[in-house]
Amino acid sequence: MFRISPEGFSLDGRPLRLLSGALHYFRVLPEQWPQRLRMMRALGLDTVETYVPWNLHEPRPQEYDFAGIADLDRFLHATREAGLRAIVRPSPYICAEWENGGLPWWLLADPEVRALRCQDPGYLARVDRWYDRLIPLLAPHQVTRGGNVLMVQVENEYGSYGTDTGYLEHLAAGLRGRGIDVPLFTSDGPDDFFLTGGTLPGRLATVNFGSRATEAFAGLRRLRPDDPAMCMEFWCGWFDHWGAEHVTRDPNDAADSLAEILAAGASVNLYMAHGGTNFSTWAGANTEDPATGARYLPTVTSYDYDAPIDERGGVTEKFLAFRDVLRRYTDGPLPEPESPAPLLPAGPVELTQSVRLFDVLGQLTHTEMQAAEPPSFEELGIGHGLVLYTSRIPGPRGPYPLSVHGLADRAHVFVDGMPVGVLERDGIEAVDGVRVAGTHARVELLVESMGRVNYGAGLGERKGVSRVLHTQQILHGWNARAVELGHGTPDGLPWVTSSGAAGNTPDARSGPVFHRGFLDVTEPGDTYLALPGWGKGYAWVNGFCLGRYWEAKGPQRALYVPWPLLRAGRNDLVILELDGVAHPVVELRDVPDLG
Ligand code: GLA
Repeated sequence: MFRISPEGFSLDGRPLRLLSGALHYFRVLPEQWPQRLRMMRALGLDTVETYVPWNLHEPRPQEYDFAGIADLDRFLHATREAGLRAIVRPSPYICAEWENGGLPWWLLADPEVRALRCQDPGYLARVDRWYDRLIPLLAPHQVTRGGNVLMVQVENEYGSYGTDTGYLEHLAAGLRGRGIDVPLFTSDGPDDFFLTGGTLPGRLATVNFGSRATEAFAGLRRLRPDDPAMCMEFWCGWFDHWGAEHVTRDPNDAADSLAEILAAGASVNLYMAHGGTNFSTWAGANTEDPATGARYLPTVTSYDYDAPIDERGGVTEKFLAFRDVLRRYTDGPLPEPESPAPLLPAGPVELTQSVRLFDVLGQLTHTEMQAAEPPSFEELGIGHGLVLYTSRIPGPRGPYPLSVHGLADRAHVFVDGMPVGVLERDGIEAVDGVRVAGTHARVELLVESMGRVNYGAGLGERKGVSRVLHTQQILHGWNARAVELGHGTPDGLPWVTSSGAAGNTPDARSGPVFHRGFLDVTEPGDTYLALPGWGKGYAWVNGFCLGRYWEAKGPQRALYVPWPLLRAGRNDLVILELDGVAHPVVELRDVPDLG
């Protein structure tokens, strides 16, 4: 039996200190879980912690996915086979730099859901329905039923968000009522307002921080004298935003902070032990001000996190420094770390086929809608991708500025088919000098979503544009066509092949272009896909979306391609370049480039 007392944790009567590390199954391909988990053992950890992202598992209302990278049951079996215990943080909200903090986008399109993360009846009903599905899958993995799950979290850092303790009670009761009988806990920042907003009486409170453990645990003890000390998220690295500097943390500084936690007698969960990748369109975003939701900062595709086990499962300096600390608290010798999969030979790959997005828009359109003012992505029934908004400006007139309201997140603007500018949320949100020579001009905005905010008051944002004006005049009468990206590569595109790279370059002014090339591989291996000279877009390997790239901004300039995506022989590589590229040649590299 796993028990919690003011003195600490115990398992079957013996004192237990948890040396845990976070690894999110949904950021690592299933074929690679065993190697990553063995690396965690080699690091000196005995427990693995994971979130469960609701939006991955319920992509549309009552359509559930627990296969492949979403196979939570298989993952928990794998953790047990690796000799690790498990801690599960099962949603509804997870933060985690994950799209909308794990909350499905369709909640935002549901008229019965009026507020998130509180006792809004519509929201609670959707959560309950999800728990009916999820919790029975989780329950058999508990230590009380012969599994390895020691404890389960209620919500996530709720003290950073709201004050509705009744909501937390509802979730706790929902977990209990559906068969969770291991201890429940909350996790929050160590300051008073976090702890008084996010904790529940009688449930273990844990704290999250990156340094100054002694202070943090003192803060916890002041408010929660009966809770043993555990750092549920020891931030030993950090994540990156597009357009910002790559963030790293000195390994020795991080190891010192880890040593301080352990010297205090506390349990720890390294956030992250192994970060992995924000594949497809799953990367979330932050805002500079979590209270107002102002200034949007989208998160990059890599979730390497400067963690001790790097994105491809390899040893880092931090790994060795942490291992030296952790081995002081483990019995017996630690297993040796193992090498990750071999790398493919580096070299260029020419993308010899192409097709303009606008030429295949009809084929790719998920929904089309007419409305007086531009409908949101949510109203159009898509989570992510692109929406082409089309309207008319009466003329003759101008020149006047064309401006947008509620841009989320980036728009290519065309007037009568000619590109006139690229707008960005919190950046340039208007095109100056738009003139109409004849009786009208056609205006088109191709709007891209770059991930929903996952932390703070900005949570639950809609994508698209809400209003477009020419001078002070609102433009009415819109057609909107929505293209969902992120799933498989669009099938059966009418590719145009050309002999040379130059001849293959469609006019950059003609808008976004899909490019296709082939990787001939003798033996599958890991590689990094670099796109020097490209702009911004999405990449797919054999139909699997690796995620977004933004070469022009960085800091990440190569996407990790895990070996299970490749096969011996010919492999399909598709890039959707939104901004234009002169020479459609990519590079396979044998080193990461996170900036
Ligand atoms: C918080 C959240 C995590 C993650 C980290 C930062 O602690 O609980 O999900 O977002 O911040 O990486």
